[in-house]
Amino acid sequence: MSRETGNLPDISELAFGPEFLFGAATSAYQIEGCVDQSTYGRGCSIWDTYLKDRPHLDSGEVAIDHYRRMESDVALMKALGLQSYRFSVAWPRVLPKGFGAINTKGLDFYDRLVDKLLENDIIPNLTLYHWDLPQVLEDKGGWASRDTAYYFADYAAVVANRLGDRVPFWATLNEPEVIVAGYIGKSLAPGVGDYSLRMKVIHHLMLAHGFALQTLRDSLPKDAQQGIVANLVPIDPLTPKAETVAQNRWMRDYAVYLEAILKGAYPEVVEKEISKSGVEIAPGDMAIISGHIDFLGVNWYLRMVVNERDRVVDVPDVPRTLMGWEIRAEAFTRTLLAIHEEYRLPPVYITENGAALQDTIVGGEIEDKGRRKYFGDHLRAVSDAVKQGVDVRGYYAWSLFDNLEWSLGYQKTFGIVHVDRKTMERTPKLSAKWYASLIAQHRERL
Ligand code: FCB
Repeated sequence: MSRETGNLPDISELAFGPEFLFGAATSAYQIEGCVDQSTYGRGCSIWDTYLKDRPHLDSGEVAIDHYRRMESDVALMKALGLQSYRFSVAWPRVLPKGFGAINTKGLDFYDRLVDKLLENDIIPNLTLYHWDLPQVLEDKGGWASRDTAYYFADYAAVVANRLGDRVPFWATLNEPEVIVAGYIGKSLAPGVGDYSLRMKVIHHLMLAHGFALQTLRDSLPKDAQQGIVANLVPIDPLTPKAETVAQNRWMRDYAVYLEAILKGAYPEVVEKEISKSGVEIAPGDMAIISGHIDFLGVNWYLRMVVNERDRVVDVPDVPRTLMGWEIRAEAFTRTLLAIHEEYRLPPVYITENGAALQDTIVGGEIEDKGRRKYFGDHLRAVSDAVKQGVDVRGYYAWSLFDNLEWSLGYQKTFGIVHVDRKTMERTPKLSAKWYASLIAQHRERL
C-alpha cells in the first residue's frame, strides 16, 4: 500500500456484497438551470422566488446547466463507472402550476435522461420531491395546507405513468426535516419563519408520502422499489445531564418521521405541539403514512451536540467541513445500528453522503484529498454497520457535481466533479478518480 492511499479502504475491506450499488446523487434545482417558462415551459418554484427576492444570493437560473448538458453528463457518469444515479424530478418542470396541464418538454427531458442512463447501464434512482415546490402551490398555503399532499400524489401519478416502466427506485420526499426548516426558519425556501406551522407541515409531508406510496403502488410494476429519504443527525449530550434533552431533540426533529412511517404514530414528545397546532389528523391518516416501504434512504452529514438548555454546542478541536459540520464517521455507524435496532429497518440505501471542503488545484489536477479520505472513512463506517447486521444495499456520493448549495450558493463545493463556473467545464477530482477505481474493483468481483 502506498503512503498516499494508505488510509483508503480497498474493496476487499468493505463488507458489501456483489449486489451493492455505488452511485452518486444530485437534485434538480441544484444542477438543471433553464428555469425560464417561455423557453422551457417550466413553472416557477419556491426556490426561484426565494433567490429572486434575495438578489445578494447566487441564483439557480443557470446552476450547472445540466438540462442542456444532460447527455455529456451521463457520458461522464459512465466514464466514472457509476452503477446508479440518484436524481430528482422538478415538480414545476412537469406540472408548471403544480397540478393540471403537463409541460411535455419537461417530462420528455426526464424520459430522455432515464433512457440515456439505461443505455449506459446506469440504474436510475428517482426522487419526486427535492424541495422545489411549484410557487402556485405555495401561494395556496404550500406544505402548511393539506391539499398539497393530494396534489403531490397526482404529480407522482403523472411521473410514474411516464417513467414507471424503466425506473426501479422511487423515493417520495428528500429530507422532510429540511423541508420543514423552510417553514419554521428563514434560511431555506419558502422562508416563512413561523415555528407554529411545524406540526402541520410535518403531517402534510407525511401524508404526501403516504398518498404517493399508494399511487405509485398502483402505477408501477410490482418489482419497483418505493421509499423515502431521511436525513439523520444524531444528537449527543454535552454532559450526562443533557441526556434527556438530547434524546427529546432527536425524537422531535429527526426520529419523528421514522416513528410515523415505521411505527404509525407520532412520538409522545410532540403530542402537546400537535394539539396546539390545529393540524387535522383524520382517521386513517396514520395507516396511510405507515404504508409499506421497500427501502429507507439515509442522508448522512453530521452529528450535533446539545447542552442541558437544548442549545447546539460546537465541540472545539474537531475536524469540520466548510459547512461547519463535524466530521465523525463513527457516529454514522452507531446511528445506523441504533435506528436498525429501534425500527427493524427495511433495506437501506445511503442516498447522500459527502463533504464541502476546499479544493486545491495542483498541476491541473483537482486535489481533494480531504474529500477522498472522507469517502473512505464513511464507506468503512457503512461497512461496519453492515457487518453488525444493517442491510445497506447502496451508497450515493453527494454530490456528483459542484452545484448550487441552496442559499449558500456555489462556494460550498461538495462535488466529486469540479464545475468551472465560467465555462461549465466538468473535471473529475481526485476523489472521483478514487471512487471510480473502487467501483471498478467492485465490478470485477461481479
Ligand atoms: C442535503 C440536501 C442536498 C445538499 C446536501 C449538502 O441536506 O439533500 O440537496 O444540499 O445536504
